[in-house]
Amino acid sequence: MKTRIAIFASGSGSNAQKLMEHFKRSDDAEIVLVLTNNPDAYVLQRADNFEIPTHVFNRDEFYRSEEIINLLERLDIDLIVLAGFLWLVPKTLIQKYPGRIINIHPALLPKYGGKGMYGDHVHNAVIAAGETEGGITIHYVNENYDEGEYIYQGRYRIEKDDNLEMVKFKGQNLEHTQFPKVIESVVKKLKK
Ligand code: GAR
Repeated sequence: MKTRIAIFASGSGSNAQKLMEHFKRSDDAEIVLVLTNNPDAYVLQRADNFEIPTHVFNRDEFYRSEEIINLLERLDIDLIVLAGFLWLVPKTLIQKYPGRIINIHPALLPKYGGKGMYGDHVHNAVIAAGETEGGITIHYVNENYDEGEYIYQGRYRIEKDDNLEMVKFKGQNLEHTQFPKVIESVVKKLKK
């Protein structure tokens, strides 16, 4: 039986796309649902291109109802992957999926994490601090933003005159190559 993965994303979904490409060819796992809080998110188009069903939800549905959990259970979801998902995951969902929710963050946590630290905000803070090294963290999700046990951290060099675009590019490259591999390794571990 393939591991059944649901992706949560709030925006463009370039990482979600890499996961969809990777698991389209996999015997181990499949992406069965893409969920978003943002009806305008480009990730919806990307999911359509892969003929993967989508679900758009609002705050009430996510925080004050069981609808999302019911949907995930109805679809027999084994693993949840946050790929640029910007809302805090409610405790009830974490309790239903202990050790089975994974997030990607564009920095070397515990630095540059927490509420409001996402996307360009992170890269700008890294540049402003004069860091010579950037990185990404893939980690299990707990009840706080960007906390939870690390699964993988990867690094890249930041040169003196690297601007936002450059730092973002290096970070995204690392995310796009590593995220599918790391999720694949988690899938294999879950099967053991
Ligand atoms: C990614 O860089 C991801 O690490 C980040 O959002 C971006 C989404 O890009 N996540 C966070 O900042 C979570 N705190 P994408 O929509 O193109 O995959």
